[in-house]
Amino acid sequence: MSELTIAMPKGRIFEEAYQMLIEAGFNLPAEVEMSRKLMIEIPEEHIRFILAKPMDVPVYVEHGVADIGIAGKDVLLEQQREVHELLDLKISSCYIASAGLPQTTMDEVAPRIATKYPHIAMKYYKGIGEQVEIIELNGSIELAPMIGLADRIVDIVSTGRTLKENGLVEYEHIADISSRLIANPVSYRMKASRILDLAARLKQTVKEND
Ligand code: PRP
Repeated sequence: MSELTIAMPKGRIFEEAYQMLIEAGFNLPAEVEMSRKLMIEIPEEHIRFILAKPMDVPVYVEHGVADIGIAGKDVLLEQQREVHELLDLKISSCYIASAGLPQTTMDEVAPRIATKYPHIAMKYYKGIGEQVEIIELNGSIELAPMIGLADRIVDIVSTGRTLKENGLVEYEHIADISSRLIANPVSYRMKASRILDLAARLKQTVKEND
């Protein structure tokens, strides 16, 4: 059997996706010790997990050092990498929205948008005919309108708590997000039977959990 390298985001998504693989019938240890190990070998299943930052999962898959991976749709929309999207795992569901201070309009001349998703934000505003200046931040995006750095933010909303606790309101719903199974195009051909089998089993699990 060929070896399959799977790139996974560290943390909660890893745990959820790992449980899904167990439900799909893969023979994985029930408790995987989440030490600081970045590579986990499962010889019984000829599977190796590599644990990466969510934003880096598609990088490993595009370069073929991981055959498949689990990546957020937000990351896929932002990076537009050469990977095949095989399946919506329907976990880590949230959405991308624009938000700002209540009852405010965007500056008509040079509206500023703070985000860690510059590509998604630019595409969205271009699509609705708004010319905007993108201010790229790496986190705590909600601060930007509060301290006058931006008119709007474009960011992930999950429970809505961060917006609420920082006195911001949502303006536009931009895209629904969840975790996706992705594959390297060459691996997808060379290891077709393994990857298709895994995708089919996960698809069944997604259906049963729906
Ligand atoms: C994400 C996102 C929002 C928050 C939304 O931030 O950027 O800030 O979660 O979740 P909520 O709707 O449930 O409040 P994350 O925790 O990843 O931290 P960050 O500020 O470093 O991006």
